[in-house]
Amino acid sequence: MSMTKTFTRLALGASLALGTVGAAQAADEDVRIGFIVKKPEQAWFINEQQAATQVGEELGFRVVRLGGEDGQGVLSAIDNLYSQGAQGFVICPPDVRLGPAVMNRANQYGMKVITVDDQFVDGNGEPLEGVPHLGMSGYKIGQQVGEAIAAEMEARGWDPQEVAALRITNNELPTAKERTDGATDALIEWGFPAENVFDAPQQNTDTNSAFSAASPVISQRGNFEHWIIYALNEESVLGGVRATEQYGLSADDVIGVGINGSGAAFAEFSRSNPTGFHGTVAVSSTQHGRQTAENLYRWIVEGEEPPANTETSGTLMTRDNWQDVRAELGL
Ligand code: GLA
Repeated sequence: MSMTKTFTRLALGASLALGTVGAAQAADEDVRIGFIVKKPEQAWFINEQQAATQVGEELGFRVVRLGGEDGQGVLSAIDNLYSQGAQGFVICPPDVRLGPAVMNRANQYGMKVITVDDQFVDGNGEPLEGVPHLGMSGYKIGQQVGEAIAAEMEARGWDPQEVAALRITNNELPTAKERTDGATDALIEWGFPAENVFDAPQQNTDTNSAFSAASPVISQRGNFEHWIIYALNEESVLGGVRATEQYGLSADDVIGVGINGSGAAFAEFSRSNPTGFHGTVAVSSTQHGRQTAENLYRWIVEGEEPPANTETSGTLMTRDNWQDVRAELGL
């Protein structure tokens, strides 16, 4: 029974795949672009890829959504795109140092490339020239995080001397460092004691790696009852918040503020009881996906090269206003 089902599915899958090839051949004048992301399962990237697909439907080009979770995965995604006749791709790379290797492969195939979110770096760690980029203005958005945390500490009447800051870092990734630096600077400017900032270096940019990084730091600093938490994104702040919960701290003792404004935050705000996840600075992943896909399309069909660097801004989203901000940003 189950074997028959499997067989039917396989047969159906094969005929659908053939159908796709046939359609591509019939319309081989079509523009086709790839949209490769480092974490295809994260809500931010799901929305970004959907928005790209949507603008493609509106303007008449196809978007092939792919994951590239390491160097090998990215290179095979590019090969895959080439074999499908794509003229270029937008990419959020799993490692920004892959830039030169990715560009080599793309140039061999004559494909145009735009980075989104995380910008390629060259051998000196500087932004790789010649690849248009669109991403959030990380330092400013980091400052917004710091300011939001400071305002909430004030609202709760906390004495900053008695508060520990959990800074979940990923200093290898410029996208991350800019954001956490912005937050730290804003907090210190407000009067937060620099010696109460504790680093939790994460290996990745997801909840699990943040949880693992945060847990030992919280247990080593058991003398602090109040914690603030920040990181490059809300997934990581959520990892930190989960670690405080495991350690027995309650929502009243924790102020975590993330960045993104994606499904991860919506799920947290939708819980019946508030958690230590106070808010997140929302940026439009819809705009990131749409704008980069459209820029690449225009570059391919009209030869118009996109701006070298576009920086997007953010809006604070909390449990109180998240639905309004979500609607405003088209998320
Ligand atoms: C990085 C982060 C993502 C998201 C994007 C937005 O890639 O890992 O979670 O914040 O930046 O630019």
